[in-house]
Amino acid sequence: MAQDRILVVDDEESMCQYLSILLQKEGYEVQTANSGAAGLELFRTSPFDLVMTDIQMPKMDGIQLLKELKKLDATSPVIIMTAYASEQSAIDAVNLGAFSYLQKHCKNDDIKMVVRNALDLHRARNENQELRRQLTRTKTRKQIIGKSPRMRSVYKMVDKIASTMATVLINGESGTGKELIAQSIHQRSGRSSGPFVAINCGAIPETLLESQLFGHVKGSFTGADRDHDGFCRQAEGGTIFLDEIGETPLSIQVKLLRMLQEREIYPVGSSSPVKVDVRVIAATNRNLEDEVAAGNFRTDLYYRLNVIPLQLPALRERTDDIPLLVDHFLKRCLGPEYTGGLGNFIDEAAMRILAAYDWPGNVRELENVIERAVIIREGERISVGDLPEHIRALGPGEGTAPVLSVGGMVTLEELEKSHILAVLERTGGARKQTSEILGINASTLYRKLKKYGVNDEEDPEYKDDESLEVPSEELINAVEDAIKESDPARGTEGAKGDRPQPVPAG
Ligand SMILES: Nc1ncnc2c1ncn2[C@@H]1O[C@H](COP(=O)(O)OP(=O)(O)OP(=O)(O)O)[C@@H](O)[C@H]1O
Ligand SMILES: [Mg+2]
Repeated sequence: MAQDRILVVDDEESMCQYLSILLQKEGYEVQTANSGAAGLELFRTSPFDLVMTDIQMPKMDGIQLLKELKKLDATSPVIIMTAYASEQSAIDAVNLGAFSYLQKHCKNDDIKMVVRNALDLHRARNENQELRRQLTRTKTRKQIIGKSPRMRSVYKMVDKIASTMATVLINGESGTGKELIAQSIHQRSGRSSGPFVAINCGAIPETLLESQLFGHVKGSFTGADRDHDGFCRQAEGGTIFLDEIGETPLSIQVKLLRMLQEREIYPVGSSSPVKVDVRVIAATNRNLEDEVAAGNFRTDLYYRLNVIPLQLPALRERTDDIPLLVDHFLKRCLGPEYTGGLGNFIDEAAMRILAAYDWPGNVRELENVIERAVIIREGERISVGDLPEHIRALGPGEGTAPVLSVGGMVTLEELEKSHILAVLERTGGARKQTSEILGINASTLYRKLKKYGVNDEEDPEYKDDESLEVPSEELINAVEDAIKESDPARGTEGAKGDRPQPVPAG
């Protein structure tokens, strides 16, 4: 086990030396500082497991040091040392969060015991925090449903990037789970105990957006009757999620760029910058490269945001996840009533239509359809009549797909294959028409046909989707190195800047 590290702060050099020798003999690593400011500086560079500080020191006294330390790292215990055991200020210190106080000339055994207890507490707290983090991780992972290869790539990427400070740009159609993934990145990061603040940049009028994001000072405009923090400062120590970033007006884009570059903001009406420590995750359902080309989005901001691009698949690109999602939403709607599996609550024909529909509104649309069907269903099981008209209309023809027999349901792959073949047969083999009816693009159809052994010849136009490639170890390392370089004291977390942006190909 690593040695516990103790910081002793006392303006009396002899006291520092005495405690240093006593505690080193006990096997601890000890460093000393002769003033509150020097102690704070040492702690900032590399945190300690325990701080022991004299209460009476010139300039920054023990109480002030305690307050500053609490701001930096609330988990390291602080022991206050006093000349007299019952000094009122020592009791106040405990009320302010000090672990305990010690009379300076008490017995060595008492010192050792208090130190041991404080370190035990610190260890237990850290273990608890780690357990809580793991628990949140499991919980979040459970909520994001999907086992398809496309979703697995997303999870892999989330795992890799969560612990870095790198800015992430999530792209995906409406309802694909962009916000859910952003939350998951936050919850798996070292900032999970900090806030996650989401702001929809497209839903706030331009005149308000700046003050909502960066805050304002009292009197800066009519109605600003007091200072306001703004979302960026509310997200301090955590993550800010800038949703629909593509809809941000150009006037605000330049200010976001400054925040990403300098890690500082200017509240409306103030000429003094305010430092902010937030991780930025942005999302859009637009193609930002097109927006850049059209002059609606700043190139420099685009590269700043697009450090790690994360593309979420549309639901029609991961149809094998549909039964899992239906199962998940049914479970959520029905609670304990939901027993015995999917087949008891949705009939085969309805399931077939859900699997074949192209879901322009993605998971959100599916979620709404299931909730609605659960409410309006007449029997125990959801049937075709419980689905909205437009979905029913686009469903497969009668008797085309295999029936989910009562004894055992067919796999979705079998269902998909037979449905595709049936539509292909009806269109007389016309692939363009088939793909339109199926609501998938032509390359997806070719891929599926190839998978099912229908398409013998190689299709020269078919390209596998590479947009979801997980960034290489080198890219992630480069991002982290750049972060460390820009602020070596803080390592992976809490960087002040981003690395030079990789320019996407094409
Ligand atoms: N993989 C998933 N598993 C379970 N639920 C999901 C999944 N993806 C999305 N959802 C649910 O679908 C709904 C929409 O998700 P979310 O708001 O994250 O999408 P979005 O991409 O941000 O949409 P929009 O672009 O419209 O803002 C939410 O209720 C979310 O819980
Ligand atoms: Mg959203």
